[in-house]
Amino acid sequence: MSEEEQNGQGSGVETYNPPEDFAKNANIQDPEIWQKANEDREGFWESWAEELHWFQKWDQVCNWDPPFVQWFVGGKTNPAYNCLDYQIEQGRGDKTALLWIGDEEGDRQTYTYNELLAEVNKCANMLKSFGIEKGSTVSIYLPMIPELPIAMLACSRIGAIHSVVFSAFQPAQLAERINDVEAPVLITADESPRGGKKTPLKEYSEAALEDAPSVQNVIVVRRTGEDVPWDDDRDHYWDELMDQQSDECPAEELDAEDPWFVLYSSGSTGKPKGIQHNVGGLQVQLKATFMWVCDHKEDDIWWCTADIGWITGHSYLVYAPLLCGGTTLQFEGTPTYPDNDRWFQIIENEGVTGLYAAPTAIRAFQQAGADETIRDHDLSSLRILGSVGEPINPDAWRWYYENIGQERCAIVDTWWQTETGAIMSSNLPGINEMVPGSTTYPFPGIEFGLYDSEEQQFLECPASGELIIPKPWPSQLRTLWQDPDRYKDEYFSDVDEQTYYVEDGATCDETGAYTITGRIDDVLNVSGHRLSTVEIENALQGTEGVAEAAVIGRSHDTKGEEPVGFVIIQEGYEWSEDMEQDLIDHVAEEAGSISKPARVFAVDDLPKTNSGKIMRRILENISEGEELGDTSTLADPSIAETIQEQTQQQMQ
Ligand code: WT7
Repeated sequence: MSEEEQNGQGSGVETYNPPEDFAKNANIQDPEIWQKANEDREGFWESWAEELHWFQKWDQVCNWDPPFVQWFVGGKTNPAYNCLDYQIEQGRGDKTALLWIGDEEGDRQTYTYNELLAEVNKCANMLKSFGIEKGSTVSIYLPMIPELPIAMLACSRIGAIHSVVFSAFQPAQLAERINDVEAPVLITADESPRGGKKTPLKEYSEAALEDAPSVQNVIVVRRTGEDVPWDDDRDHYWDELMDQQSDECPAEELDAEDPWFVLYSSGSTGKPKGIQHNVGGLQVQLKATFMWVCDHKEDDIWWCTADIGWITGHSYLVYAPLLCGGTTLQFEGTPTYPDNDRWFQIIENEGVTGLYAAPTAIRAFQQAGADETIRDHDLSSLRILGSVGEPINPDAWRWYYENIGQERCAIVDTWWQTETGAIMSSNLPGINEMVPGSTTYPFPGIEFGLYDSEEQQFLECPASGELIIPKPWPSQLRTLWQDPDRYKDEYFSDVDEQTYYVEDGATCDETGAYTITGRIDDVLNVSGHRLSTVEIENALQGTEGVAEAAVIGRSHDTKGEEPVGFVIIQEGYEWSEDMEQDLIDHVAEEAGSISKPARVFAVDDLPKTNSGKIMRRILENISEGEELGDTSTLADPSIAETIQEQTQQQMQ
């Protein structure tokens, strides 16, 4: 049997077996685990809760009063205690907890569990000196430096609710987020060096604070040491205050349902949603998923490349690895600075065993021809690769598998959301076959379903429809910050009060494996056929010369909509009418003639948010010849105009 047949490439669905070695040593190997968990869901989650430290055990596992849920009711716990003290009690005091790599080569710092605990305690005492206590809110606007996880853990330790604001946000976005939680303290830095450039965070904070009157004290980390605007009555240097603090601070005994943190997620319209997570359930699901999906082992060096300003960084850079006693790597810089082999250099130098990244990063490497660069580095320490944030197109998956994973690593494609707090669906790497582009099964103890909102009915697998989560899960968001009505309205009103409506399209097969096809608003309707933009994008991305693609629906008199593609061309290719036709033909071959784009436009860049999500609305406006509309949530708002000009030229 050829390797391809072995890996199921002949059978229609392309599948890969988990690497043999990996499967033999995986933390979870029992293929019956789904069935077992479903027979006693509460018992399953309770057994994971028992893996953590509780000051007091819960009286009730789950209290479901739709749409509101509580888990481990009556239990008392503390996330910082679990991440630090509890690990030290298990003998990990001298083990590296946090490994920090800075923007410039050679910038490197490590913290053992003992050292991290001391810093966290000092920071907690510093916050207390400003009156911060259980239930207070603290806004944190820091770059990817150790002080960021330290500040988060310090808040957790005393029961203060942290609201981390992504450091690439602009002053107005910062002000809006500070105002929503009415934070009395802001923690920021002088400047943020990244990719050789510096962002003036203190200056931005200054601008934000003009519209954010709740802040009475600002704590400033000296990252570059540059002189920054200063208000003696309000501003304090982090290092000067930390020096005065005791490194002992008891962990507050928090109720399982006390709020842990708030993190804002942009809704498609209106003001950002303050997603609230509470301390009990999220810790439990983070522990479970890090052990079974990320397959955590004692000697691992885990690198989640996401910024801590996003949920992926909160959950899988800071909390999950520490809850499991792991070593977590935090990288301040970019993949291309000072050279485009920076990631591979770090993997080689630090012996990284697990890499958790977004498809957009993988595609960027693919586009830059990084397979050449990779060959100069020894990546043999890697054993598991993760993908998160958007559907990974099979072409990028294979590139990840072959080049970074060198065909011997397990790949986990993990589906979840800011709202779900932790991984909800992924192949379990020692058990399931890997299916490029599919996140396969819900995690044991989690249930998925499909819904058809036009017909208002629940669907049975195999089917294609809208993803729903019919039962509550431990790491579920508890509410939107101080807005339970909006929580209900956003998530529990499309189907009914008990059913969480995801807003993702999905398909499931007869075995109950799910493939996410993209956000609901990423679905096209061409002559009554529901087409996923992702599928057409995959076809375009699979064509020679195409680096990246986005597809949207343009209104059409008879068809309702017709697909229109936007592509970034790889270097060395020349855009022409012939090339456009080739792409259109290729999509027809791959995805059927109904999916054939009416036009494909070549552009320099795609309109992306800071988290790398394509804002299709902007492309829709461009292709309809309308105004661009609000471009403020784009990572680089000027891109929109460039795309508009390039498209208009090609339309003529
Ligand atoms: C949305 C959530 C997951 C944390 C980071 C993003 C999309 C996420 C996958 C995946 C297909 C995915 C979904 C989801 N998404 N992971 N593996 N395959 N789609 O969190 O910003 O809250 O976005 O990202 O559309 O609903 P987020």
